[in-house]
Amino acid sequence: MKIALLGYGTVGRGVDEIISARVPSLEVARILELPDRLTDPRMTASFDDILADEQVELVVECMGGIEPAHTYLMAALESGRHVVTSNKAVVAAHFGELARAAAAHGVGLYLEAAVGGGIPWIAGVEKVRRVDEVTSFSGIMNGTTNYIVDAMRRDGADFAEVLAEAQRLGYAERDPSADVDGLDVLNKTIISASVAFGVACEKNLPTSGIRNLRASDLALFAAHGRTVKLLGRGVREAQRYAAAVEPVAVAAGSLEASVPSNFNLVTLDATTVGELKFYGQGAGSLPTGNAIVQDVLDCATGARRPTYDFSRPLAYDPALLRGDYVYRTEALLGDAEPFGEGAVVVRGLTAEAARALLAEALATDPTTFMAALPPTGEGRTAEPTQEG
Ligand code: HSE
Repeated sequence: MKIALLGYGTVGRGVDEIISARVPSLEVARILELPDRLTDPRMTASFDDILADEQVELVVECMGGIEPAHTYLMAALESGRHVVTSNKAVVAAHFGELARAAAAHGVGLYLEAAVGGGIPWIAGVEKVRRVDEVTSFSGIMNGTTNYIVDAMRRDGADFAEVLAEAQRLGYAERDPSADVDGLDVLNKTIISASVAFGVACEKNLPTSGIRNLRASDLALFAAHGRTVKLLGRGVREAQRYAAAVEPVAVAAGSLEASVPSNFNLVTLDATTVGELKFYGQGAGSLPTGNAIVQDVLDCATGARRPTYDFSRPLAYDPALLRGDYVYRTEALLGDAEPFGEGAVVVRGLTAEAARALLAEALATDPTTFMAALPPTGEGRTAEPTQEG
C-alpha cells in the first residue's frame, strides 16, 4: 500500500524509519513538508499534489495542531482515502465530524497514536467494548509531567530545575504549558472518554496541572503514604458520565506511583474483564511511529476497521466525580480541616467544584497547588468516589 505522510517531524521520521526498515508491504510515497525543507524526492509543500496522486490510498497525519490538519484530514476522507493520525488536538476538537466523514465515504479513521504513544490503548478499549461496557478509566497519559514529578520525588529537586532539565533532554517543549497545565492530557481524556463510553465527550472538562507543584508538597504527601501523579480519568454510570484532568495523590504502593521517567500507564475497568492496565512509552519517535504503522497495517490488511458512533444518549454529569481535595495555599479556605504545614483538605467536592475552588485560591495565592485525595485500598490504585 502506498501512503502519504503529512509532517516529517519526530513522529513522521519514526514512521518512515520503521516502514523502510521493517515493513516491505508499505511504501511512504509522498511527504508533505515545509517549502524550505524539501530534502527528499518524495517531498512536496503542496497538499493538493498529494490529493491528486491516485496511487496514495492512505494519509498519515502527524503535523499536530488544529489547522491546517483539520482541513487536510477532511479533504483526505472526502476523497476516499483512509486516515491515520497521531494528532490529539485535532481529534479532540473534531472527533465527531471526522468519524462521520469516514463513515460517509466508506474509509477508515485510525488514531491509536494520539493517546499513549506506542501503547495499544485505543485498540484495547475498542476490543473491550466488543463484549463489555467500560465503567471507568484513569491514567498517566503525559510523559513530560511524569518525568518531572518522578525526578522531583527522586532527587528532591524543585519544579523549575527539573523542567529545565526535561527541556534540555528534549522531553519538554520550550513552551511547556500544554504539558504542565494539563491541556495535553485534556485532549487525550476527551478522546479516551469518547471511545470508552461511545459519546461525543464534553470538551470543557475540569482541568488543572502541576505547574505549582513543589518538592515540599511531594514530601507532605509522602508523609501521608502518597505521591502525586497527573491523571486523566472518566467514569460512567448508566446513562451518565463525567471526566476530569487533575493531579491525584495516589497511594505510594500503587502501580501508578511506581511509573518511572516519561512512561505512561492507563487503566480501565469494564463489566466482565475487570481491571486492565496498559503500560509503555507514551511518546517518542519510534514508539509513536510504531502505533501509526500498526494502524496502517490494520487498515491495509483489513484486520481492524474502527467505527466510532457517538449517538448514545449519555449525559455529562459532573456529580459522578466527587471526592476529597488537598489545597496547599495561603488563601483562606474557611475552617477547612488541616492536612499538614500550609495545607488543608476539603471533603466531598465534585472535580468541577474543586477546580472552581482552586481558581478562587489562585486569585489570592498564585502559588496554590491542588490534588485530589482519593480513598486508598490495599493493592489498589486510588480511585475517585463515585456517587450515583
Ligand atoms: N508531550 C506529550 C507527552 C507527547 O509528554 O506525553 C506525547 O503525546
